[in-house]
Amino acid sequence: MPSVQEIRASPGGEPITMVTAYDAVTATLVEEAGVDIALIGDSMGNAVLGYDDTLPVTVEEVASRTGAVARGTDDTLVVADMPFLSFGTDLQTSVENCGRMVKEEGANAVKIESGEHTIELTERLTDIGIPVVAHVGLTPQSVNQTGYTRQGTDPEAAKRIARLAREHEAAGAFACILEHIPSNLAAEITDELSIPTIGIGAGSDCDGQVLVINDILGLSDRTPPFAKSFGNVREEMSAAIGEYVDAVEDGEFPADEHSHVAEELDELY
Ligand code: KIV
Repeated sequence: MPSVQEIRASPGGEPITMVTAYDAVTATLVEEAGVDIALIGDSMGNAVLGYDDTLPVTVEEVASRTGAVARGTDDTLVVADMPFLSFGTDLQTSVENCGRMVKEEGANAVKIESGEHTIELTERLTDIGIPVVAHVGLTPQSVNQTGYTRQGTDPEAAKRIARLAREHEAAGAFACILEHIPSNLAAEITDELSIPTIGIGAGSDCDGQVLVINDILGLSDRTPPFAKSFGNVREEMSAAIGEYVDAVEDGEFPADEHSHVAEELDELY
């Protein structure tokens, strides 16, 4: 598994790959594909839990799925995404929630949607041995303030995003996700930081890329403009489930080879 130190030292090296995973089976496939970092994203809210956004996702939901992903991997850095209101209210509760992912669920690090209010937390977590991935630009937990639109498109907003990235690097973050910002801003931030940037909708000059697994697989019914589907798993799943329904309704399933007979019951039935 790439260590946090190796990731931290990687700008300019081979691009870092990060993919979301929410269960052990997917995590195993992610690892087999050679992905560097599995992110148990709070995107699970939309991707698998049926919510309209990430806001209702709980610490318990992220914890349970972090444990599953950690059990499904040996050689992939596991990063738990801290959900809305699990951090940022008071320092002690924030540290306890983050610590739980590492101590009880097997995460190697946590990711925190970053703002002014997460600088002290990033410093504290790093001090006590919990590595932190920062996340600036579009931060979906702030959807009620920003919507899902591109961020950092005017000079003031761009400067604020770059400053937040620098401040979180100084606070100890070992990598920084840049979401849905102009590629020239992402290139500038990547140049400025000594920790790697991992982009999503931030162009090709970042040190790595992250996508939501459902988008990669072609499982999402809607994908953001910056995502690309590399498969069509939705169609495959739909066809397989449809074939099962037809086989049961036509009496073709289960066949003899899917059933067994107990001779001892012959006299009874
Ligand atoms: O929750 C998530 O999956 C994320 C990534 C898209 C960066 O935050």
